[in-house]
Amino acid sequence: MGQPSAAMRQILEAAIRAPSADNQHPLRFETTGDVIRIRAEGEYVSAPFLRRILTQISFGAVVENLSLRAASLGFHASTAWFPDAGDASLIATIIIGQSSGAQDDGLAAAIEARQTNRAVLFRGPMLSEPERRALAADVAATPSVAMHWLDGDLRGPALRLIRTAETERFRDRELHRELFSCIRFDVGWNRSCAEGLPPACLGVEPFLRPAFALLRHWPIMRALGFIGGAGILGLRSAYLPCRLAPHLIALSVGDVSPTNAVSIGRAFQRIWLRLTTLGCAVQPFAASPLYALEGNSAIRGTLRQRLRAGWSDILGPDATPLMVLRTGHCAPAAVQSGRHPLDHKLPRRA
Ligand SMILES: Cc1cc2nc3c(=O)[nH]c(=O)nc-3n(C[C@H](O)[C@H](O)[C@H](O)COP(=O)(O)O)c2cc1C
Repeated sequence: MGQPSAAMRQILEAAIRAPSADNQHPLRFETTGDVIRIRAEGEYVSAPFLRRILTQISFGAVVENLSLRAASLGFHASTAWFPDAGDASLIATIIIGQSSGAQDDGLAAAIEARQTNRAVLFRGPMLSEPERRALAADVAATPSVAMHWLDGDLRGPALRLIRTAETERFRDRELHRELFSCIRFDVGWNRSCAEGLPPACLGVEPFLRPAFALLRHWPIMRALGFIGGAGILGLRSAYLPCRLAPHLIALSVGDVSPTNAVSIGRAFQRIWLRLTTLGCAVQPFAASPLYALEGNSAIRGTLRQRLRAGWSDILGPDATPLMVLRTGHCAPAAVQSGRHPLDHKLPRRA
């Protein structure tokens, strides 16, 4: 295994700019000539169901960025997902070949500017028909994924599911631990960090910050729960932002599998980049679709069934949503999540 060429480095730099659940890419790149192997790191292989799906969606976004940057540089990226049944840590093998010329549909240019925006208020105008068609074409590049506009009559029922799931993150001890364990209170409210969520990018109003920081202590959160605190937090962190956003979008597949999860990640990243080129802000909300999934033992059975029935009523019984996002216009977040330098994700030099 050697060190990557300059072009390969540009491609990999784009890959690590992809979004990831809680801003952690548990992966390493191995490069040999024109082949890139993506290898999962840390606890991915033994991770609980929910964490594995979130990570697979993130891997999809990584490969989409990588492929888009390769195409913009005149290369073609050919990906084999999960190529070795005997090696669960090998996520993808990607061959980078020369193509007939640089191909750029405008998405690669948005890779560095894309960010998660958690401001409460996204404003109009609504997307135009040609803009919506461009997004539909971006999703169609990943044939197993469908896009659903949760606007009009579908908005109300979707909001109820989103609020229910996001409230659970403040009500259930383990989900609360997961939520707060990735927030980097140690970096303060003005700085970014290479891994985990810097508090400054959470969109918490300055006067609420001290109170929000206290919520990381479970006894305090639990005590607040007795007077409806979890519901209020679900309202503020998810219901209101989604209610006020010009558009709410869900991405679904036919069923849950690692290949469908990475496909969602690819389509999700394409529309996120397209929305960035259109000047739109984006915030994903993964809880309500993922907490609905069968096999997710971290979620109470009654909640899971309620969410599953709710999504089935909205999207029909054949659609399994894996991601929801809101979009609209908003000033960019002042602080953006950072990344480790690329060398952190490459094998150490001998
Ligand atoms: C699979 C996945 C799920 C995510 N879920 C949420 C979510 O529920 N709420 C949220 O605010 N951000 C969510 N995000 C956004 C990540 O927190 C964000 O991508 C990461 O912190 C890096 O920041 P950046 O997108 O600004 O580069 C999700 C991202 C991915 C890829």
